[in-house]
Amino acid sequence: MCGIIGYIGQKKISPILIDGLRKLEYRGYDSAGICVLSQGELKTIKRMGKLEELAASPEVAKLDGAIGIAHTRWATHGEPSEKNAHPHLDCQGNIAIVHNGIIENYQVLRDLLLKEGHKISSETDSEVLAHLVEKFYQGDLLQAVKETLLLVRGAYGLAAIHKNHEQIIVARKGSPLVLGLGENEMFIASDVPAILEHTKKVVYLNDDEIAIVGQTDYQITNLEGKEIDKKVEEIKWTVEQMEKKGYKHFMLKEIFEQSEAIANTLRGRIKDGQVKLSIDFDVKKIKRIIITACGTSWHSGLIAKYLLESIAEVSTEVDYASEFRYRSPMVGYSDMAIVISQSGETADTLAALREAKERGAKSLGIINVVGSTISREVDSGIYLHVGPEIGVASTKAFTSQVVALLLLTLYIRQQKGMSLDKDLLRDLSDIPEKIDQALHRAEEIKKIAEQFKDSKNFLYLGRGLNFPVALEGALKLKEISYIHAEGYPAAEIKHGPIALIDQNMPVVFIATKNNLSEKIISNMQEVKARRGIVIALVSDSEEKVEQIADYIIKVPETKDELSPIVNSIPLQLLAYYIADLKGLDVDKPRNLAKSVTVE
Ligand code: G6P
Repeated sequence: MCGIIGYIGQKKISPILIDGLRKLEYRGYDSAGICVLSQGELKTIKRMGKLEELAASPEVAKLDGAIGIAHTRWATHGEPSEKNAHPHLDCQGNIAIVHNGIIENYQVLRDLLLKEGHKISSETDSEVLAHLVEKFYQGDLLQAVKETLLLVRGAYGLAAIHKNHEQIIVARKGSPLVLGLGENEMFIASDVPAILEHTKKVVYLNDDEIAIVGQTDYQITNLEGKEIDKKVEEIKWTVEQMEKKGYKHFMLKEIFEQSEAIANTLRGRIKDGQVKLSIDFDVKKIKRIIITACGTSWHSGLIAKYLLESIAEVSTEVDYASEFRYRSPMVGYSDMAIVISQSGETADTLAALREAKERGAKSLGIINVVGSTISREVDSGIYLHVGPEIGVASTKAFTSQVVALLLLTLYIRQQKGMSLDKDLLRDLSDIPEKIDQALHRAEEIKKIAEQFKDSKNFLYLGRGLNFPVALEGALKLKEISYIHAEGYPAAEIKHGPIALIDQNMPVVFIATKNNLSEKIISNMQEVKARRGIVIALVSDSEEKVEQIADYIIKVPETKDELSPIVNSIPLQLLAYYIADLKGLDVDKPRNLAKSVTVE
């Protein structure tokens, strides 16, 4: 994680760097710093805490110069503090670096540098980079960075400046970096939103590439010095899409955007009773599917397992990307690896993709961010097209992932020559309307949230396709409200969690109509019999639970295959309102980051 931005040009530099960091705060927000080359000297300012601490400092406003780099941190090595904040400088204060990633062999390098007399002042892994560049510098900054990178093991998105050079050196391995090409000015950043206000022309760096960036030109090579000709890409997202548009938080805006977002995911993909996807390999030949992802994306993968096995009739496994990459998985040529990632940059998911490809599997990405690393490395993909998701807790990306995975499921079935359920296709096309109806009940959910904002624990229970929805509901709540919450398959609570039930335990049942709803109502009785508090999420026409449940949340009726999409909406709202009523920073929950580019 961590966010990097750099600028070289003639405009006032500090607003460009600080505003850029603001757009990158989702990547980390425990400390921040800026370094500008001003009248031949590097001037560095760092602050502990949220970016506003740095932004508000009068010295930052006074900074003046044509070259600068800045960083917002998510601590890995060394606690959040001013000393550990980036940029890091060498002993002489001639070189400054900002780094995103982890230098795995930093301890050895640190010991070596200390022996050579370098003064290392932070506890970070990153600082060794500044000292290594100093060690190798003999008048050529690019060369010194290259020699440094040949020594380090791990992941980096790196930017370096030197007081004697009108250039920024950037390099990438594992952590994203993009160059923004302006008129007589250049930008570098971890992610496009940081520079979108200034330019839509970008060049993405790949792993093991290094660039020398001047005010009007740039050159990209590999570490051996071979020049690489890269395509300039045009970004389609607008600045307006990146703003809150009157909502109190990005998360709330993104929850309310879901009908439109999903309409975009569906656009052009269902036509004349057929699913239209452009997948470059023959999905009929796939014998088994392996899904890997992290966090919320992993939950959409679990839902997809139910869909793929029952509709497309393909055996499907779902694995945490972080586990898959290290467990010598049995994967081969007849398998398809589906990787799901909103950002397209999650380090573990990327590594899992590479592992699956190396073992011969075909790969397919379900990705939101166009041009992201995973989207560039998969054999084929389905973009979500939901626009930028800024709130750290994923909402619209999750529901649209489920939509994209259902489209894929139907597509595989169709390619196998099996008939498609026309009613399901029609209802899928109409799902944005159902989402809108679910959103209209936000005020009722807010009232329920008021009752539970001081709860210490929560259980979420569901069955079948709605078991992963229960997991996701619990994750949303714990991420942003810091209330301990667990998701469980409803029938499984008898084997342990039922011991936790008492009059203080709210239990959210996802019990919309399907072939298991009778059974889940029995599970509700079991909780009630132990004085648990039942919050039942049920279909509009449901009447039976009224005598059992303490609180009822109604959602519009849908086919079971579509219920995870509609059922997720009230759970997102419940988590949001509870966190907001507690006065928490919903968009930037403690210890989390939106894009996890370290393993
Ligand atoms: C982080 C975010 C989660 C997200 C997960 C996977 O943990 O906070 O919201 O689900 O990463 O991210 P991805 O971009 O790969 O979907």
